[in-house]
Parts: sequence; structure tokens; C-alpha cells
Amino acid sequence: MSTQTLLVTGGAGFIGANFILYWLANHPDSRVINLDLLTYAGNLETLHQIESLPNYTFVQGDIGNTELVNKIMADVDTVVHFAAETHVDRSIKNPDIFLTTNILGTHTLLKAALKHHVKRFHHISTDEVFGSLELGSTKKFTEKTGYDPRSPYSASKAASDHLVRAYGETYGLPYTISNCSNNYGEYQFPEKIIPLAITNLMAGRRIPVYGDGLNVRDWLYVQDHCRAIELILTTGQEHQTYLIGGLSHDVSNLELIKTILRLMNHAETEFDFVTDRPGHDQRYAVDWSYIHQSLGWSPTVSLEEGLQRTIDWYLAHPDWWQPLKTKNQAYFESHYAGSKSI
Ligand code: NAD
Ligand code: TYD
Repeated sequence: MSTQTLLVTGGAGFIGANFILYWLANHPDSRVINLDLLTYAGNLETLHQIESLPNYTFVQGDIGNTELVNKIMADVDTVVHFAAETHVDRSIKNPDIFLTTNILGTHTLLKAALKHHVKRFHHISTDEVFGSLELGSTKKFTEKTGYDPRSPYSASKAASDHLVRAYGETYGLPYTISNCSNNYGEYQFPEKIIPLAITNLMAGRRIPVYGDGLNVRDWLYVQDHCRAIELILTTGQEHQTYLIGGLSHDVSNLELIKTILRLMNHAETEFDFVTDRPGHDQRYAVDWSYIHQSLGWSPTVSLEEGLQRTIDWYLAHPDWWQPLKTKNQAYFESHYAGSKSI
């Protein structure tokens, strides 16, 4: 693996950038090409520390650009495909771009990967493709759970997963897929709930909690996720799917927000219940025993520890997130404008 060339798509986004930093620190002999369109979610500041390395190349471009993708793919051994539109709320307001990027863009990459005989196409997906578990149940998603996506975002990711498997079964593309739970950690765009909450408090604002705040998410610290992807690339089996989850146990959004408020020494009441998200999935929970048994991976960072690290990082890096809040002020204002405190 040491001299190989990786094409990382979406490497200027949250998980992709964390992965590139992790990968180059641990595999300094390999080459990384980062293909990213730099949408609102892409930020090259994150990669500042590695941008001049001779084995790192950044290409600004669209995964749906056939000519560009074929040109890049000619030199690539492994694709790690993160690039996507990722925010459920945005997918509800403007689904079209989710279909274009997540489905058609993935298809463009698959065709090029096949044509250029890449040795591994690793597709990063989400537990949201499995739909919503009942509140109060002890059920968890496994590799055998049927697909039941409920938002335009999760439907587009489900479609991309199906295409990856179809290319494996029909044309023999050597693929792997991982479906992970909600990631959090350093360098996450502050529209997702954890960085939104932290940066709102830092900016003197309250935290908006959708509905009754009882929805449950499974929280995965991004560094644990990067280590899981590394293991899948180095020791995972072709044509396999791996579920990756965190150490949190059925934490509701309300409990999550209250933990953040406590860790940041704010009053427990500095949040508002606001209008719920349409079709809001109730509960996600991931059974990661398959990747544990087959590759020896398990998450290591507890939610409390991961939150403390994340809070410390945002406190120390207002230069990273403040410009993003300012630049995307119109989005934040219009998104929360219709929200009513309830
Ligand atoms: P992100 O929104 O932070 O970053 C996405 C990146 O993709 C950005 O840098 C953006 O510029 C780039 N991009 C978007 N459209 C593109 C295009 N057409 N061509 C090239 N680049 C494009 O996303 P993230 O949170 O880092 O998520 C990465 C992957 O992980 C996604 O596939 C997502 O579905 C999956 N995932 C994320 C989470 C999570 O909690 N963040 C959970 C499960 C799965
Ligand atoms: P989010 O971070 O958008 O991730 P996802 O929708 O992919 O799970 O949201 C996480 C949870 O937090 C989800 O249940 C919706 C909720 N949420 C709020 O309560 N308020 C907010 O302002 C946001 C953005 C999310």
C-alpha cells in the first residue's frame, strides 16, 4: 500500500480533510490527489498544513466532470469517495443538487474507475440509508438491514450505494462500502448540530433544537472513523460493506445539547425548541460488531471526551469557523427564519 496513489474526492470537506491529514501522517510514502469542487462546504484552510507536500495535489473540480475525472483516474490505484451534498435540511429545500452530485457524480466516478482498472473503489456512505428506528427500541442497523431512506439526502446516498454494488456485481469493480453514523470533531462546517451549537454559544446565540429534542443519533468521533476507513483500505475485503458507529448510547438531541452547555459552562436553558424538520428521522443506532470481528476495529473516543476535544478545538480556532458563519449568514438567517420557538 505504501507507494500507491489515492484519489480522495471531497477532501476539502469535514471527513475527507480529516482523512487526508490522518492518511498522510500515517502513510507518508503514498500520494494523495484531492478532487473537490469547493462548494460552500469545502474549505482549503483545513489542509493548509499539508498543501505544499510533494505527494499531495489539489484539483478543484466536479466529480460529475467526465473528462476531468478520467484524466485524474489514469494514475490512481485507490479511490476514497467522500464528495457529496450532505446536509439533510438543505436536501429538503433543494433536492436537485443532491441527485446530481450524489447519484450522477458517483456514477461518473464509477465509470472512470472501471475504465482505468482502479484496484479499490471505497464509497463513504451513511447509516441514514436504513431509515428511522423507533424511539425506545433496542434495535440497531446492521449490514443486513434493508434500505429505507426517508429524506432526499438519504435517498440519494442509497441510490449511490446501489450503483456501487451494481458496478461490483455487473462489471467486477473491486469496491468496498462503509455506512457510518453521525460524525463530529474538528473542521466540521457549522451547519451540523454539534458545531452549530458550539459556535452559536461562542457568538452569544442560543441553540435551536428541532421538535421535542427527543430524536436520537449515534455519534462517531471523526478520528475513529478515519482509522476505520484506513483498516478497510488496508485489510478489508472486496465487495464488502462495513457499518461504523460510535460509543454513544441512545443520546437524544436534548441530552447532547445539555452536555455541550455544561461542558461550555453555560446555563442549561440556553436553547429553544423550534419548528421540527419535516420527516425527521427518530432514531439511529449502529451495530459495529462486524467490522470489530472482521478487522479488529472499535471506536475509542467516548462522546463526552470527543465533545470536550471538539469544543476545545472550536474555542481555539475562531479564525477557521467565524468566516464560514459570516459568509453563509444568508443561509443561517433564511433557514431559521421560519422556525418558531415552541
Ligand atoms: P461535507 O459536506 O463537509 O463535505 C463535502 C465535500 O464534498 C465538500 O468539500 C464539497 O466541496 C465537496 N463536493 C460537493 N459536491 C462536489 C462535487 N460535485 N464534486 C467534487 N466535490 C464536491 O461532508 P462530510 O460531512 O465530510 O461528509 C463526507 C461523506 O461522508 C459524504 O459522502 C457523506 O454522505 C458521508 N457521511 C457523513 C456523515 C457526517 O456526519 N458528516 C455521516 C455519514 C456519512
Ligand atoms: P444534523 O447535524 O443536521 O445531522 P443529521 O440530520 O444528518 O442527523 O442533525 C443532527 C440532529 O440534530 C438531527 O436530529 C436534527 C437535529 N438538529 C437540531 O435539533 N437543530 C438544528 O439546528 C440542526 C441543524 C439539527
